[in-house]
Amino acid sequence: MDSNVGIDRQLDAFREARRNIEASVLPLATSVDGRTFSFQASLYALDLQVGGYAVLEDSSGIPRLGQVLALELDRQPGTELTLPPGAEGTPGARTEVQIRYVRGEGLVIDGELAPFHDAVIRVATETEVAAWQQRHARPSAMLWLGDLALAPGVPALADARGFSRHTFLCGQSGSGKTYSLGVILERLLMETDLRMVVLDPNSDFVRLDQPRSDADPVLAGRYQQAAGAVAVYSAHASGERRLRLRAADVDPAAQAAALRLDPIADRDEYAALAAFLAGENTPTMAALDGSDLPEARRLGVRLANLGVDRYAVWARGEPGSVLDAVHDESLRCVVIDLGSLPSREEQSLVAAVVLGDLWRRRTERRPVLIVIDEAHNVCPARPPDPLVALATDRAIRIAAEGRKFGLYLLVSTQRPQKIPENVLSQADNLVLLRLNSLADAAFAQAAFSFVPPTLIQRSATFRQGEALIAGKISPEPALLRFADRISEEGGADVPATWAALR
Ligand SMILES: Nc1ncnc2c1ncn2[C@@H]1O[C@H](COP(=O)(O)OP(=O)(O)OP(=O)(O)O)[C@@H](O)[C@H]1O
Ligand SMILES: [Mg+2]
Repeated sequence: MDSNVGIDRQLDAFREARRNIEASVLPLATSVDGRTFSFQASLYALDLQVGGYAVLEDSSGIPRLGQVLALELDRQPGTELTLPPGAEGTPGARTEVQIRYVRGEGLVIDGELAPFHDAVIRVATETEVAAWQQRHARPSAMLWLGDLALAPGVPALADARGFSRHTFLCGQSGSGKTYSLGVILERLLMETDLRMVVLDPNSDFVRLDQPRSDADPVLAGRYQQAAGAVAVYSAHASGERRLRLRAADVDPAAQAAALRLDPIADRDEYAALAAFLAGENTPTMAALDGSDLPEARRLGVRLANLGVDRYAVWARGEPGSVLDAVHDESLRCVVIDLGSLPSREEQSLVAAVVLGDLWRRRTERRPVLIVIDEAHNVCPARPPDPLVALATDRAIRIAAEGRKFGLYLLVSTQRPQKIPENVLSQADNLVLLRLNSLADAAFAQAAFSFVPPTLIQRSATFRQGEALIAGKISPEPALLRFADRISEEGGADVPATWAALR
């Protein structure tokens, strides 16, 4: 019994000794190249986080600012501990213990880029992070997207100029893509002159022109001014804002795709269609049905069978079309409410025609941000039919060659592999929300090799509205929490009132 008490006391003594040693590990950093650094820190005072900011102070007295990029538990094996005999007669003892501590890696983002050794490392204060931002302020509009997630109170700023490259926004369903996309569009509307065309398959941006009643009054007031030049085109609207196309807006490739005509296999009908389109007047069903040419009559049957003549999207004598709005310089933002169209075919037709028209007029070199939410439906990696394939081809062409003509893409999707590789690989900016799947994160990592993998892996822990931004819009990758929307959201999530406590 007595000997057990003695062992317990010794164990307690060893535990306390180990705790004291582990708690005394000093937070020290070393850099041999002056840019990347390694550090150690105690598990008992761990306030550094991956993606967070740290100050490094060495004997020079001039602090550096660093970003922590990795943290892991490490053990120092085989540390020998000797306890002297206790006062109550317990004998001395000796054992080997493992000392646990944190090892980390990081990058110097501000300060002298010279090697250093044993610099004390600590979490940067908000003031220090904000001062760094100000020192590096760029001479272009900065978009206030929210707060830095690991320095709350410090604004997360995106360089508006970065949107002159293609941007990829990704996150699993419900992670907040559409909401965050709305924040980005609002800020671009308020702070820049960039025009935008939004392909909106879920009717999520149909109220982008309406400030929320609970929005900050000053912001809402400023927004109201910018939102005056937002135009929403919807199948439900009447008059000028009805989402419509003239048959003449639909280029031959899109006509053929809508009619599932193959230029080789269906060459007679294809030629008849081309002849009709080349004529003065838009072909009518009556003209096709009454034609002397059998191929024209077959074309009419095809049109009727596919229901193309009954599309709600046709202008049917009403003047103008959505393409006029797409090119109307007085409109800052044209929301094309694809979700309001009754069929997938009509949605794809409008997407293909709008993308085709923007490309056709590329030499006008007027900068425009082409926003595609739910890109896995508008331009999927594996298109299900010729019309979607055409929209996809056009998105790929803009991704590959649009930038130099001022055609910039902002595509949003749930999984990186759901959009064509050729679109993903052309994106220079990443906005990454929560991504649970390791496979998806690996895909994003491969496409954005300039972003530290540990930051991409962190996306698995993001809460709704938290994101990583990197690329030309944020040369130093940053973790942020998106700000509240100023404008109303469109299609709301289905309410879960059925689960209310009875
Ligand atoms: N930062 C945020 N603050 C407050 N609410 C948010 C935020 N982000 C998202 N939400 C809310 O969470 C819900 C889901 O967000 P959102 O529709 O943007 O997700 P999503 O990633 O676009 O999903 P999906 O892939 O299904 O389209 C919405 O009701 C939205 O209002
Ligand atoms: Mg969405």
